[in-house]
Amino acid sequence: MILGILSGKGGVGKTTVVSNLATVLSKALGKSVIIVDSSITTTSLSHICLHFGLNENLKETVRGYLDSKTPLRNVVYTHSPSGVKVIPAPLVLYKQVTPAGFKKFMKWLSYRGLRKLTQKLEKEYDYVLVDCPPGIGAETVYAIDAIDEAIVVTTPEIPDVSDALRTINYLKSSNKKIHGVIINKIRNKKYELSINELKETFDAPIMSTIGYDDNVPEAISKGMPSYLHNKNSKVSKEFTRLVGNLTGEEINIGWWEVMRNFFRFR
Ligand SMILES: Nc1ncnc2c1ncn2[C@@H]1O[C@H](COP(=O)(O)OP(=O)(O)O)[C@@H](O)[C@H]1O
Ligand SMILES: [Mg+2]
Repeated sequence: MILGILSGKGGVGKTTVVSNLATVLSKALGKSVIIVDSSITTTSLSHICLHFGLNENLKETVRGYLDSKTPLRNVVYTHSPSGVKVIPAPLVLYKQVTPAGFKKFMKWLSYRGLRKLTQKLEKEYDYVLVDCPPGIGAETVYAIDAIDEAIVVTTPEIPDVSDALRTINYLKSSNKKIHGVIINKIRNKKYELSINELKETFDAPIMSTIGYDDNVPEAISKGMPSYLHNKNSKVSKEFTRLVGNLTGEEINIGWWEVMRNFFRFR
C-alpha cells in the first residue's frame, strides 16, 4: 500500500501521524514499513528525521537518490528501536534554489518522478508511507502523484479545515482513495469546530480525533515517535486504534480499553 499523509496547512501533525502509524504498524503488527519524506526541494518542511532522532548521520537523502547521485540502499535509514525504515529529505538548502536551477529541477523531477520510487518500494514493503508537503504546490502535486491512497490531517481550527478541504478536492480529482480525516491537536476550545460540524464539513469519514497532548512534543524532543516514548498515553492508544481500523487487524491495547470497548457496544 502506498499511503500519503497530507494536510492543507503545515504544522497540523502530518509527520507525527506518519511516524506513529509507521511505528505501530511495525512494532504491534510486525509489518515492514518505509517512510518517504517527499519535501525534496523545500528543505526542513517535514523533519521526519528529527521525529526518529536521525539528525546525526544524514549524509544521503531522497534528493541524492532522485538526482541519480547515490544508490537507493544509501538513502534508506533503519530506526532500530521501531524497525521502521526512513528515506529522509535534506535539512540543508538545495544548491539549485535559484530561479533557473529550480525550474530545471522541477522539470526533471516530473520526468523521473517520485512515483517510480514509491512503486519500487511497494514491491518490497507492506506499507510505503509518504510524508507529503503542505499546500498544493508543485512539490505536493508530485507527492500526490506518487501515492495511491491518502489520509488528511487537520486541527479543528477553521483555516486548517478550509485548507484540508482544498487538499481533499485535489485528491478526489486525482482519483486517489481517501481513507478519511484525522482531527489532531483538539483543545476543546470554543473557537474550534465541533466534531459534528467537522463531520458535516468533510465529505470523508473522520477516522480519528486526537487531543492536544504534551507527550507528542516531548517525544519529538527525545527523537522518537510518541508510541515509543509512552505507549500508554492517550495519543499512543489512539494511534493503535487507528492502525487496527486501517488494517482490520486486532491489536491488544490493554485490558482497560478492552473493557471500555466491550461496554460501549452493549
Ligand atoms: N496531538 C498533538 N498534541 C500536541 N502537540 C502536537 C500534536 N500533534 C503534533 N504536535 C506538535 O505540532 C508540531 C507540528 O507537528 P508535525 O507533525 O511536525 O506537523 P506537520 O508535519 O503537519 O508540519 C510539532 O511540534 C508537534 O510536537
Ligand atoms: Mg511535517
